[in-house]
Amino acid sequence: MITCSAPGKVYLFGEHAVVYGEPAIACAINRRISTSIELVSSGKTRVDAMGKRLNCNSEEFKYACCAVQTVKRLFETDFGAEITIRSQLPSRQGLGSSAAVTVSTIKALAECLGIELENEAVAKIGHQVETAVQGRASPADTFVSSTGGVVFIEQTTTSHLSPLNIPIIIGATGIERSTSDVIASVARMKQKYPSLVTDILSSMGDVTRLGKQKLADEDFVGLGELMNINQGLLESIGVSDDALSRLVYAARTAGALGAKITGAGRGGCVLALAQDGNVKKVSQAIVMQDAQVLNAAFSNLGLQTE
Ligand code: MEV
Repeated sequence: MITCSAPGKVYLFGEHAVVYGEPAIACAINRRISTSIELVSSGKTRVDAMGKRLNCNSEEFKYACCAVQTVKRLFETDFGAEITIRSQLPSRQGLGSSAAVTVSTIKALAECLGIELENEAVAKIGHQVETAVQGRASPADTFVSSTGGVVFIEQTTTSHLSPLNIPIIIGATGIERSTSDVIASVARMKQKYPSLVTDILSSMGDVTRLGKQKLADEDFVGLGELMNINQGLLESIGVSDDALSRLVYAARTAGALGAKITGAGRGGCVLALAQDGNVKKVSQAIVMQDAQVLNAAFSNLGLQTE
């Protein structure tokens, strides 16, 4: 049996805009998903995720199952597999569980089949899987989950930025949503108001480029301000909602340097930047809104074989 694990992620800047070729900055976190795979002679593939067992044609495990189909197609091979997924990430809440499942499944399958795949190659195959499942996807999620660290992504260009030395707070609404549905709603809005939405997405790109500079300067006050501007732009394309906005404002009122949604939005999580002295206060403010605070920190660790 081969086990591979991969991290979840948060977006400092640029979710949604990155789907349209604008840059984004995403960071791996120290919560991971591990996927164990054993090839079986029956030819059938079954998935056990957190104790729930299903056949591979089930909707619920579509990323893992699509990863299996994609590996079969790309490497012109056929097999059955027992796949066991263990997760420290809530699923469908914007923390990159889909990308982490996807890349850890691809890597573990490749190892089982004796195929050598670098992590960046796994990320590219993972991007094909996410595009097939979601209809539209940027390469950001699978890249950061494969390589770890803080990543700047602009179209097909990727680079690692220096690690972030500031605490993060993740507030989870507990509301699950489908990434494809939220992406599709942005596409519909762009179709309805093409030049307006193109300008908003391009402003998000400008915010990300400025954010990259603030990161390099370790200007965390500026970074927080830009996160708040990014949140305003995300609100304007309809991907925030009442529960998320309440968490964003609660975090800011408690002294967070910046707060915004992370990931697709409309449910899921917010990300707040806090100075060392006020982590507790910001966390308490989020909990007071009936949300959960998930302990997490930035991590340099990407996809790895256990
Ligand atoms: C979802 O984690 C991030 C989005 O930008 C989609 C993507 O980049 O594929 C909304």
